[in-house]
Amino acid sequence: MIDIHTHVLPGIDDGAQDIFESFEILQALANQGVTELVATPHIISGVYENTRSIIDRKLIEVQVLIEERELSIKIHPGAELYCEPDVVSKVKNENLTLANSNYILIETELQRFPDNFEEILFNFQQDGFLPILAHAERFSPFMNDIDYLLKIVNREIYIQMNSGSIFGVYGNAVRNLALEMLNIGCVHVIASDVHGLKKRPILMKDAYDFVASNQSKEIAEILFYENPKRILHNEPLIHNFDGYFEERKKTGSLKNKLKSIFKL
Ligand SMILES: [Fe+2]
Repeated sequence: MIDIHTHVLPGIDDGAQDIFESFEILQALANQGVTELVATPHIISGVYENTRSIIDRKLIEVQVLIEERELSIKIHPGAELYCEPDVVSKVKNENLTLANSNYILIETELQRFPDNFEEILFNFQQDGFLPILAHAERFSPFMNDIDYLLKIVNREIYIQMNSGSIFGVYGNAVRNLALEMLNIGCVHVIASDVHGLKKRPILMKDAYDFVASNQSKEIAEILFYENPKRILHNEPLIHNFDGYFEERKKTGSLKNKLKSIFKL
């Protein structure tokens, strides 16, 4: 598996606090079957003012650790960008993409989107970047309006889901949306968003097994391996979910189906 969303670099955000914690995380990811990962520290003005040079310096520390401890895991530079007005210029000036590709990982406030949310995403696209929305299932605006999520996806914004969301790590509302998104097929990649072993379980292997048995092994391979690999290689992602969109149009969303079954 390839994990494109991790907070493994030591001491620069709310993830690993020191190199020992970085080691714990790397070992745990390797034990789950992760062979490659992207380090994506938060970049938030006034909170986590990380720059490409800080990220590169920390990356070297972790690379030395990987070699010393002979871990069979490969690490790439990246960032989790907070959606704020100057974010596009920050990315352009400092090359804050995933593994030096054109893909960027972007997050925003969980409760409500900023007014210029879509505008910022489309500005990125106009500049040739390929935005991936981090843990989309955690955003409240999508919980009551999955069609809004589909609208975003149809505008070629890619969707990353957290492995823990499938198992209720972030609560039932997030879990319900995550399951509906998997059923509809509007997910492009699943990643751990690991912050540390004491915080939330990683559950990458469990999530892979869940998708393989509830969707199919092919879809699990796309979400955990093929699409993440394409991100690293700067190749177009598999959008093989068109069939699912068609199916949804015919049958309605899972929520609507449940509503009609239970006459809610
Ligand atoms: Fe994150």
